[in-house]
Amino acid sequence: MKENIVNLGLFGFGTIGAGVVRLLDANADVIEEKTGSKLALKKIVDIDTETDRGVELPEGVLSADAADIIDNDDIGIVIELIGGAGVAREIVANALQKGKHVVTANKELIAKHGPELVRLAGQNGVRILFEASVGGGIPVLTPLLGCLRGNRINRVLGIVNGTTNYILTQMEATGADFDVILKEAQELGYAEADPTNDIEGFDAAYKAVILASAAFGKKVDVSSIMREGITKVGMADMEYARELGYTIKLLAVLEDNGAAVDVRVHPCLLPCSHPLASINGVLNAVYLEGDPIGPLMFVGQGAGPSATSSAVIGDVLELLTSGTSAAGGTAWNIFADSELAPVTSVSNAFYMRLTVSDMPGVLADVGGCLGRLDVSLASVVQKKTDGKSAELVMLTHSVNEGNMAKALEQLKDLKCVETISTALRVFDS
Ligand code: HSE
Repeated sequence: MKENIVNLGLFGFGTIGAGVVRLLDANADVIEEKTGSKLALKKIVDIDTETDRGVELPEGVLSADAADIIDNDDIGIVIELIGGAGVAREIVANALQKGKHVVTANKELIAKHGPELVRLAGQNGVRILFEASVGGGIPVLTPLLGCLRGNRINRVLGIVNGTTNYILTQMEATGADFDVILKEAQELGYAEADPTNDIEGFDAAYKAVILASAAFGKKVDVSSIMREGITKVGMADMEYARELGYTIKLLAVLEDNGAAVDVRVHPCLLPCSHPLASINGVLNAVYLEGDPIGPLMFVGQGAGPSATSSAVIGDVLELLTSGTSAAGGTAWNIFADSELAPVTSVSNAFYMRLTVSDMPGVLADVGGCLGRLDVSLASVVQKKTDGKSAELVMLTHSVNEGNMAKALEQLKDLKCVETISTALRVFDS
């Protein structure tokens, strides 16, 4: 019988690219048994053709010339692992225009240009798949677009960034401050030398808008969503949150009320009893509530070569087994236009930690300022005082985001308020 060989082209030979090479080698038998096809990496293109990645390649496979893949008619499936939305966008668009299917792990590219690339794929009778772009190895987009598609998805909550989850988990476990744990995470290779993308929530924001398209079928502009990172979360907040029965997590929060979608990324006090509260370290998890499925949670490794290559090769095999025609399989029509709910239409409970002058009348001033903006307090605790200044920890009832933003501005102007150290949303329901 003639062997069915499927030729692949890989752009980007970094850590994840090397993981794909390893997986194809180690699991070649499993893949052939399950699909009847042999996957062959025909060409790998990277600007660096010298560095040893610790994997063996046959002579002539590695090249620095994109045309070796783009103009190669033997290659029908392109894997893009370059990252970013610059060169990668051009290469993916070229590959689609040449009638090649594309599999990518690139969250920034899909978050910013997914709709245009899906459209381009359709126009060229091919598909672009990106399971690895959210949650690394965790299957989440494919189930949302496949077996869960008959559900109305009401809400999705995700821990979708391993670096920040590691930092928050370690702060809580060791009592060490953010900077100390960030340095440790960098030494361990969990955080980048420039950690901005992770700690300021950009990476999670890309994943949040991709999740929104898969969960709600809606297109969301990533630059418009509320995004806060974890740099302002202090050790004191960790301790106080725990005393109140919460842990602190960086969450992607997605809700669809029918008329508008609310998509945001921010650190959040989460009740210790919530299923996401026990997702620690570099693990990722996506928790969703669907009708009729009810609550459902996906947990696993959200990054790294093993997990990511699992999702990448899963997409390649999806192309082989579910039909490669533009009409076949999943991931189509998932980018309808949508309205993003204005922040002022959203309500949350808040946690605040502030330092105030320790003198009579201060609580009345602070409470009055909040009350005038309809911010109702659920609890106030005075934590520390040195006789001159006192630290207050406050929890509000659910309040309008717009009113809360104004309240925080006005609190800053009160003479008795020295600093507002933290204001975090509280997730209770
Ligand atoms: N830097 C990401 C994380 C992985 O820490 O989860 C890639 O998206």
